[in-house]
Amino acid sequence: MTTPNIELAELIEGLRQPEKTISPKYFYDERGSQLFEKITTLPEYYPTETELGIMRDNIDEIADLVGPQASLIEFGSGSSLKTRILLEHLHELAVYVPVDISEALLLESVHRLREDFPSVNIIPVVADFTRQFALPNPAVMPLRNIVYFPGSTIGNFIHDTALDLLKVMYEEAGEDGALLIGVDLQKDPAIIEAAYNDSAGVTAEFNLNMLRHLNREFGTDFNTDAFSHSAEYNRNKGRIELRLVSSEEQDISVGNEDFTIEEDEAILTEYSHKYTLGGFAEMAERAGFSVAKVWTDADALFSVQYCIRK
Ligand code: AVJ
Repeated sequence: MTTPNIELAELIEGLRQPEKTISPKYFYDERGSQLFEKITTLPEYYPTETELGIMRDNIDEIADLVGPQASLIEFGSGSSLKTRILLEHLHELAVYVPVDISEALLLESVHRLREDFPSVNIIPVVADFTRQFALPNPAVMPLRNIVYFPGSTIGNFIHDTALDLLKVMYEEAGEDGALLIGVDLQKDPAIIEAAYNDSAGVTAEFNLNMLRHLNREFGTDFNTDAFSHSAEYNRNKGRIELRLVSSEEQDISVGNEDFTIEEDEAILTEYSHKYTLGGFAEMAERAGFSVAKVWTDADALFSVQYCIRK
């Protein structure tokens, strides 16, 4: 893992921005990861079920494209639910490398996967994939690397950062490698806004939990009770924007820095970009990929895309 000092400096830098910003990676402490799991089962949150359906419907074609003895490298693996479909169907997998920032969740998930897939070689890597990390050397030389990035996590990043991340994936895929990626699509904003303003309030809880996480891990003193959840679709930018809005003025200290949060001031906690097929293809091309195959559901809510190195 990266050192706490770097993390603290990054946190401070975000809070110094014209609009105070905290990285969505701080959602995922143990409770945050549990809350996210709960989000994926909510009736309004269409992405997870839809992506699972697309994977199930097209798994034979996916397995044929990937070919035998591949190395599967998953960025931000979480509970690896969608991965199970791949582990069940890919031909003679050389190794599965799940990469995640939350060590507890990663190891728990690997433990369960090893029970269910005793013949699969699994090498977990605890890392923040937005920074460079080393890939392990598996015992069996893979024929090709498949970078797997499901869940439309790519949507968290603004265009330039998403492009940089795709370039990292291009490098990690190596010669003959490919990227299998889940990309959420633009659609009726009402559907999108409902997915991030669920009636059970789980997303609100997930958003607020970030501040509890920071208070614990960085000794900050956000008054979490004063914040409320906001999620709005920005049509111009094609993205959901999550914020935490403070109902009171509060002074907080982060490391050696002090910040004032005004009454009604919002902290930006997440972007979730929704793509058009053309928009994503253009970005993938810029990173060196060409989109070889796109699968969607019948309502074109979500896409799974197979990108090969040009
Ligand atoms: C994990 C980034 C894909 O953007 O839909 C869900 C995170 N945030 N509800 C998303 C999230 C609020 C999710 N991603």
